[in-house]
Amino acid sequence: MNRKSVIEQTLAITRLNVERFGKRFPIVSMGDGKYHLTDQTNWTEGFWSGILWLSYEYSKDPALYYAAIQTVDSFRERMEAGQALDHHDIGFLYSLSAKARWIVDNDEASRLLALQAADVLMKRWRSAPQVFQAWGPEGDADNGGRIIIDCLMNLPLLYWAAEQTGDRRYAECATIHADKSRRFLVRGDDSSYHTFYFDQENGNAIRGGTAQGFQDGSTWTRGQAWGVYGFALAYRYTRDERFLETSRRLARYFLEHLPEDHVAYWDFDAPQEEGTARDSSASAIFVCGVLELLEHLPEGDPDRALLSDAVTRSMESLINSYFTAGNPDEEGFLRHGSYSVRGNSSPDDFMIWGDYFFLEALLRLEQRLPGYWYGRQA
Ligand code: GLY
Repeated sequence: MNRKSVIEQTLAITRLNVERFGKRFPIVSMGDGKYHLTDQTNWTEGFWSGILWLSYEYSKDPALYYAAIQTVDSFRERMEAGQALDHHDIGFLYSLSAKARWIVDNDEASRLLALQAADVLMKRWRSAPQVFQAWGPEGDADNGGRIIIDCLMNLPLLYWAAEQTGDRRYAECATIHADKSRRFLVRGDDSSYHTFYFDQENGNAIRGGTAQGFQDGSTWTRGQAWGVYGFALAYRYTRDERFLETSRRLARYFLEHLPEDHVAYWDFDAPQEEGTARDSSASAIFVCGVLELLEHLPEGDPDRALLSDAVTRSMESLINSYFTAGNPDEEGFLRHGSYSVRGNSSPDDFMIWGDYFFLEALLRLEQRLPGYWYGRQA
């Protein structure tokens, strides 16, 4: 199946989904091929907005544009209501919605909304450990001073806000956080912790751990993929070579630990046996991360061939063995994603972020459309 035909089939599914979802937002399916829907209460609503913006940019279909701007209106209502904003995933939410709209049509109100979101994210900054706390209120006994690798994908909103406003504080905090992530989440063998705890009073490093992985010292594949992409984006904004090297190291580890079909199981350390769940979303994120990384590696870099080959193989496998191939009864693009196998939450289903990154990968490859993590105006 060629990539253009796959994109056309995703568009067909998305057009049906616009009707099916109405004003609600898909998150994951629960084994029946139907997305469970949310109302701006989770970390995931931006992915549907992002799918609509990408689909519009590719097709120029006004119906998709209309659906996309409606999602941004919904994000504005969420902001005005202060609803479910007390966590670090503000970057996922508002980069793919308000910032996306600004990138696509230069809408000033959307730019201001995305800047407002950056200010909300800044409230997660904790001065003693010098990190963005992922979850829970300041001083929280379990989550105070705790970071997670996923947060690297929230940082681009801050770098962009620094560019837009000239206020370097956004970028400085983002870079300190990225560097702490590099030093404490990434291990010497290039694997990663999902989360790390710092003492919230004195900032001392305490220990690594997991929330969604197999065990504390294991490597949760989606976390590793967030790291590949997040460090490559940190490099794009900072030009700090250490971030580029970290992205490369994580990418090499990821591809060297893939099973035969080049799509990741849910954790690199989970016993691989009959029935072990995959996480196709981890592989879709990994492909986008590697495509970003390849933008920054010079021609002649010894890893270019290996990384390009990893993109080709993973995409071929996702398309041929995981894509729903435009079956109108199925609402997702990619089968066999896993939200939290450890928490027994949708361990083998559609994940809206898997669909988003699958489409982003297709459009990066076909049209050089890179998604909405950084502005394209410059
Ligand atoms: N950022 C949450 C997840 O990847 O499940």
